[in-house]
Amino acid sequence: MRNANIKIAPSILSADFAKMGEEVALLERSGADIIHCDVMDGVFVPNLTFGIKMIEDVKKRTNLPLDCHLMIVNPEKYVERFAKAGADYITVHVEACGDNTRAVLEKINSLGVKSGVVINPDTPAEKIAELLPLCDMVVVMSVFPGFGGQSFIPGVLDKVRVLRKLIDEQNKKILIEIDGGVNPETAKAAISAGVDVLVAGNTVFKADDKAAMIEILRNA
Ligand code: DX5
Ligand code: ZN
Repeated sequence: MRNANIKIAPSILSADFAKMGEEVALLERSGADIIHCDVMDGVFVPNLTFGIKMIEDVKKRTNLPLDCHLMIVNPEKYVERFAKAGADYITVHVEACGDNTRAVLEKINSLGVKSGVVINPDTPAEKIAELLPLCDMVVVMSVFPGFGGQSFIPGVLDKVRVLRKLIDEQNKKILIEIDGGVNPETAKAAISAGVDVLVAGNTVFKADDKAAMIEILRNA
């Protein structure tokens, strides 16, 4: 049976950047629910990807929501421009925003875009508990951010279970997204722990039949 409660968000980090329009269109035809866009600045993470212009151009090629995962320092400087470029979700790292996280989330909310906070594998759930009312999504990193194709860190699933409980106590729908190392096996564990959205880069892009892989992950 199709698990309609689970959303699949392929990460275009694993796409061929030189043909991004076609890659995104293929993901949409293949049944993806969300396009996950990994923005990296070479400072917060040791890698560089793309920025506002890519979001603007991808937006023209798909009707799917764009989930912009900002792995950058001082994201508050750019959230307005990402929103204008067509971001549907903007998520920021608590490790990048520090004491400013609440203000950054408020700013994202004021832009009429869905907001989210991201936590690295070594950041405890308690760090963001008080921020939940400001979020539409919480992203639990299951790898250290920076690169696609890494192995899933199973220890983060305890955090997913804690967050699931905290979120179920709120009277607001907040999605839990897991990001990094998702494959059919780890997807199954993540779904049982309570996630709503699975990000998958490598697993979807290396599959010859992307539509079949997306359904395998959804129903894992
Ligand atoms: C890592 C990124 C992830 C990554 C997922 O910094 O945030 O979104 O692209 O890629 P896979 O699924 O290949 O681990
Ligand atoms: Zn990501």
